[in-house]
Amino acid sequence: MTDYELLCSQVQEMIEADPRYVPALSNISALLMETLPDLNWAGFYILHENQLVVGPFQGKPACVHIQVGKGVCGTAVEKDEVINVPDVHQFPGHIACDSASNSEIVIPLHKDGKPAAVLDLDSPRTDRFTETDEAGLIRIAGAIERSVIWKER
Ligand code: SME
Repeated sequence: MTDYELLCSQVQEMIEADPRYVPALSNISALLMETLPDLNWAGFYILHENQLVVGPFQGKPACVHIQVGKGVCGTAVEKDEVINVPDVHQFPGHIACDSASNSEIVIPLHKDGKPAAVLDLDSPRTDRFTETDEAGLIRIAGAIERSVIWKER
């Protein structure tokens, strides 16, 4: 079982090493991909105007732009809520970047109380993300929101 306490402190150390979003989120996506079993994609989309743009990630090349309201990521931003999808094939409008994905979880990240990005994890295993994963990932998202600097450089 994943030790989210440890993972969260590693995330905090990575942000302290350099809080700018490119270095911090690059290392965090690598950490999540290495640590969490059964993932095929782990990374971030950053909100620019009304669209999500792919950010630091690990996995196969992904779609670059996602409109707010589209796919799991855009729906998470529009509703401003965590979306845990046990079977992506049952989610209307799911955007398939990697045909290996069967389940997905998306967590909105906020700046000044408004969505600024999402954390997106995909798994080839149906029903991969438990309530424990969801709670742990929300904690990680909170650490990122509190400390990451979202400006370009
Ligand atoms: N499946 C996502 C698109 C991003 S990829 O999973 C990396 C969605 O439906 O928004």
